[in-house]
Amino acid sequence: MLMNAYKSYRNLPPLAGLCSMTDAMKPGLSVEQCVGRLKRYHYAFKRLHQIFTARLTAEPVYELKMGFSLHAHLCAEHATALRRRVGEKRAPPLGLEAVPDAGLEIFFDEILAAPTTGELVLGLYEKAVPALKAAMERHLTDTNLLADHPSARLCRFALLELEEMSKFGAQTMAGLVDGPCRERATKWLQLLDNCLTAAGKLEGVDEPIGTAPPQRLHSAKTYQYDKVPKRDERFPDPYNMGVNAEVFLYDEQFPPEPKTLMMFYKRLREIDVPEMMASIIVETPGKPWEYYRDMTRQLWDEARHAMMGEVGFANLGIDWAKKVMINYTWSLALNTQLKPIERHAVLYFIEQGLMPKTGKRFEWEVGLASHNPLSALFQDYDWADEVLHARVGRDWYLKDFKNAQEAVRYGDQCWSRVLMNWESWRQQGLTQHRNWWPEVYQDACQHWGAKPDPKVLGYSTTYQTVRADLKNLVGSA
Ligand SMILES: [Fe+2]
Ligand SMILES: [Fe+2]
Repeated sequence: MLMNAYKSYRNLPPLAGLCSMTDAMKPGLSVEQCVGRLKRYHYAFKRLHQIFTARLTAEPVYELKMGFSLHAHLCAEHATALRRRVGEKRAPPLGLEAVPDAGLEIFFDEILAAPTTGELVLGLYEKAVPALKAAMERHLTDTNLLADHPSARLCRFALLELEEMSKFGAQTMAGLVDGPCRERATKWLQLLDNCLTAAGKLEGVDEPIGTAPPQRLHSAKTYQYDKVPKRDERFPDPYNMGVNAEVFLYDEQFPPEPKTLMMFYKRLREIDVPEMMASIIVETPGKPWEYYRDMTRQLWDEARHAMMGEVGFANLGIDWAKKVMINYTWSLALNTQLKPIERHAVLYFIEQGLMPKTGKRFEWEVGLASHNPLSALFQDYDWADEVLHARVGRDWYLKDFKNAQEAVRYGDQCWSRVLMNWESWRQQGLTQHRNWWPEVYQDACQHWGAKPDPKVLGYSTTYQTVRADLKNLVGSA
C-alpha cells in the first residue's frame, strides 16, 4: 500500500510527533460527534464540581473536606477548558447549560443526594469518576488525533487529574467504606449503573441510548444543601474562642517563634473558609461560569491554607487535634445568619483588610524573623494567594457597587451584624473557652529545646468582646 511507503524526511517524527501516519488516517469522530461527547464531559465535570462543593460544608471528616475542595477546583478548571473547546467548534448557541441526557441527570442527582458519607464516596469515586475517565480515554482512541488534537489534549490533561482523584477515592473508600455500608448501597449502586446504561454510557455512544432511565431513589425529594458546618472528633471544642491569635501576633513584646504557632493556628482555622465559600457558591445561582471557577479556585486556596497550618503543627510534633482547639464559629455564624451576598461582603471586607502592611506581609515577615523556614514559606504563598483573592473580590463582588468604599462599608455592616455569643456559648455549656495556649507553647518549646518564656506562657487574651467591638475581631480568609 502507498501508505506504508510514505516516509518522513530523514526519519524525523512525522505530524509534529502527534501520532503515526496510520493513526492520522483513521476516520475518527466528526465535529458534531466530537462536540456531542465534549458536552457530556463538560456536564459531568460541572455536576461533580457542584457535588464536591455542596457536600463539603456538612461533611465532618477533615480529609474529605480538603479532598472535596481540591476536586471541586479541578472539576471547575476542566469544565472551563471544555467550555472553551466547545466554543471553538462552530456550535453556537453553545447549549452548555442544557442537560445532555435524562439518565445522566438522575445519575448525578442521586450522588448529590447520597444519604451518608460512605455512599457519597462510593457514588463519586467508584461510579462517577471512573465513568468519566473511561469516556475520555475512549475519546483518545476514537478521535482522529491530528484533526481533533485540541480536544485530545484536553482529555489527556483531564485524565491526569481524574487519575489522581481516583487514587484519592480508592484510599478513601478503603478507609471509610466497610462491608455493611457497601451492602446497604448495593441496590443504589446498581441504580447508578442503570442510569449510565440508559444514557449509552457517560459518553453517550453505546446502545441502548435514550431508553427510560430508572426510578429515582435518594433524589426523589429535591436536594437540600446543608449549610451548617460539621467536624469530626478531632475538633472536640468547636466553639472555643479562648485564644486570641491576632492580639498575640500584633503585640510587639512577643518574639517571632511563638508567633509562628499562632499563625499555624490561624491557617488551620481556615477550614471554615471553604465551608463558608461553598455556601456562597451553592446558594448563588445564575452567575456567569467564570464566577464559579474563580470562587472555587479561592475555596481551594483556603483549604490549602488550612493544610499549611496542619503541616506546620505536624512538623513541630504537635498533636493539633488534642492540643489546638480549632473552632468553626465563623463559618457557622456566617452560614446561618447571613444571606449569600452578605457572606461575600464579609469575606471581601476581611480580605481587603489583610492587604495593608499589618496583614499578610507582616505575617510573612514574622515567619522570616523566626527560625521556622516552613512558616516563612507558607506565609509567602498565603500572601500571594491573598493578592489573587483580592482580585476575585474586585471581579465578582465589587462590581455590583457604585464604588469601592460603598462595597467595603456594606461588608463592614454585614460583619457587624454577625452575632458571636462568646458569653452565652459558655453559659449554654457549648464551650468553656479553655485557654489551650500554654500547653501548645510548652510542647513547641520542648521541640525547640528552649525554655518557655513566662510572659509568652502567661498569655491569656480571649475573643470575648462586646458587640460594638466585633468588627475588630479578625475572621478567616
Ligand atoms: Fe486564606
Ligand atoms: Fe483568602
